[in-house]
Amino acid sequence: MKKRLLVTRRLPEEIHARAVRDYDAVLNPEDRQFGTDELIAMSGEFDAFLVCLTEKLPKAAIDRLAPRLKVISTFSVGYEHVDVGAARARGIPVGNAPNGVTIATAEIAMLLMLGATRRAPEGERVIANRQWGGWAPMALLGRRLDRKRLGIFGMGKIGQAVARRARAFDMVIHYHSRNRLPPESEQGAVYHATLESLIASSDVLSINAPSSSETRHIIDARRLALLPRGAIVINTARGDLVNDEDLIAALKSGQVGYAGLDVFEGEPKHHPGYLGLDNAFLLPHMGTSAIEARIEMGNEALDNIDAFFAGRKLPHGVN
Ligand code: DGY
Repeated sequence: MKKRLLVTRRLPEEIHARAVRDYDAVLNPEDRQFGTDELIAMSGEFDAFLVCLTEKLPKAAIDRLAPRLKVISTFSVGYEHVDVGAARARGIPVGNAPNGVTIATAEIAMLLMLGATRRAPEGERVIANRQWGGWAPMALLGRRLDRKRLGIFGMGKIGQAVARRARAFDMVIHYHSRNRLPPESEQGAVYHATLESLIASSDVLSINAPSSSETRHIIDARRLALLPRGAIVINTARGDLVNDEDLIAALKSGQVGYAGLDVFEGEPKHHPGYLGLDNAFLLPHMGTSAIEARIEMGNEALDNIDAFFAGRKLPHGVN
């Protein structure tokens, strides 16, 4: 008998087809969002959940899941929305989708970087607001990326993919990560043992570290003050790494020249202070919104569930 699988959000057709081929799968073509209590109530009817970052499963929820629910796989690289420790304690393996996101997220980081250095959002507003009076030598002057120091905070797969792309723009790569990379992966990038040292050496700071209790609000007033004045801050990781009040104050004072943000604390809410700023390039969490990424992410998430029911270790297990 096929195992019963809940796929909580609308995913690409290819992924729906694989899910219904291999499981007694309940899909969500209307893409309505499930609340935590609803998921707890439904857990008695399912053997597996394929969730997204919009479904929150903190410890209190994990502890109340029905015994029938045997495995959880998330359609995301980040898994801070699932308390994986609580799941481990209950013997529920959790897997993620760690690879499909990489290129698409790195591309959005480059888009934000280019948009911020060349002031693309302001240019777009000039056209949209019918304010363009014609070409002028000094209008909307930005800066080039070449020879600028790109400081990558979090040199995992996505950080390394950002570095590869930035090298093609002749940027000089610096990074800080929990662990130093081996020389063949470092490719000449300058390692900083502390985040503070990285920040002080970054003309552009790209945040690519995961969300955790240690990284929450790590980019705060004290650290922003270490940036060279007018530096650019890009965040394609998670909004809660940044203290919004502090970044907004730094954007207003000119300490930060521009911010390119794809993620926000408490999204889809975001700090209203960003909205009035000319020097903020804001996107609604589009980092992985590329069809190739979505298909890879879906396949990785399903691979975890397949492996579990075949009695194998999850290929992308996180607990
Ligand atoms: C992830 O996979 O964690 C991304 O943030 C989803 O876009």
